[in-house]
Amino acid sequence: MNLPNSNHFDELAYFNIKAIQNQDPLCADAILSLLPELNRNADIPELTRILRQLTIRVSETPIQTAEAALAAMRDLGIVAGSLKRHGIEPISAVPELEVPLLVLGDYTRMIPRDTVHHYTSWNPTGERRRTYTDDEQERWLQDAVVRVFPNLSASLAISETLSEMDPRDARFAPMVGMLGDASRAMIEAIDSVTSRVSPIFFAQEMRPYFEEFTVNGVSYLGPAAAQAPLWLVDLCVWASDRNEPEYNRFLVESVHYSLPSWRDFYARHACKASLVTKVASLLEQQTGEPDEAAIQSAGSLADLLYLLKVFRGRHIGIARRAYAPEVRLYEQGSGGAPVALLKQILDLTRENEKLMQVRPRSHQHQGALRPASANSAASQPQARETYA
Ligand code: HEM
Repeated sequence: MNLPNSNHFDELAYFNIKAIQNQDPLCADAILSLLPELNRNADIPELTRILRQLTIRVSETPIQTAEAALAAMRDLGIVAGSLKRHGIEPISAVPELEVPLLVLGDYTRMIPRDTVHHYTSWNPTGERRRTYTDDEQERWLQDAVVRVFPNLSASLAISETLSEMDPRDARFAPMVGMLGDASRAMIEAIDSVTSRVSPIFFAQEMRPYFEEFTVNGVSYLGPAAAQAPLWLVDLCVWASDRNEPEYNRFLVESVHYSLPSWRDFYARHACKASLVTKVASLLEQQTGEPDEAAIQSAGSLADLLYLLKVFRGRHIGIARRAYAPEVRLYEQGSGGAPVALLKQILDLTRENEKLMQVRPRSHQHQGALRPASANSAASQPQARETYA
């Protein structure tokens, strides 16, 4: 395979979303538009032929840029995932695929298969969108995740600054407020999915495409929404020192599927005191006059955790319906964990919120949660009852 020098790999490429979307390094646009039909017909021979054809192309075509390498992985990944959906291990069907996956993974410093980034943010829009099915619900699922990534990525930069800041610093509370933007984007995303995607469609049509497959003897999960790094925001806010073993295991496992700078973020923050712990100890130390700055900071964390709780309450609602025994095809989510884990994360979010509740919740903040449209799931009874 012909790739640029890996020493020159520019990490900003991951965020050069349009440039990645525009790439078609394997000239696969036309072939991939056939994928929904091939999947509908479970046409294993044709899927295998296409995967072999793209493998030859990736081996013979020079890949000129980091963006093209990410796009090549995206296009190989969706065909490989399609074969796996029909019960075929891609590397068993096309053994010569293994080396290009390993080389592309190594070059892009990611796992040797596609991730949720490839399937959502780095996937073109419009006619060129790569999908497993031709059902519009799949696009809505993709769109929901596309929407949260810019905010989540930005929130890691904000968390980094916050973790170095004294919680009495006047900038602390407004910066925590900025983290709320990512949580609001998560709420909008889950509302959009809840109102447009049926749990049965997710469970029975989509979930099988996110199955793991093996590369070089290691099993890698498919492009799950659970790989959206909300868990890194948690890590900084409370989970570095107030977590439970199950969520911690999920977090450690999910980090492998993220970008290199996010893996570094994890390494830097895993053993640091969390923001909640720092603020809680400030509050405990208070004697005499209340420390207004510490109270402001605690309040801002409570507001943030409230928003995270809203996301998680609504998210667990749709997850429970998709993984109900009479609906599900798999016990585990596509991110490798059961719905029971979501309950644990929700409970932990709620506990930490309570710890930070030292002043009445602000009205302004509650207003920000009003549903944007009549379509929003927030207006549906089942969504309302699951968020608190
Ligand atoms: C039909 C829609 C969905 C279902 C059935 C569902 C189900 C699940 C399940 C079962 C988990 C547990 C871990 C695992 O996947 O193995 C999970 C985790 C997660 N999902 Fe979803 N999910 C859906 C949509 C979404 C969307 C649209 C987003 C984001 C925009 C999202 C973000 C997350 C995150 C961040 C986690 C990690 C746990 C957490 O932070 O609470 N999910 N999901």
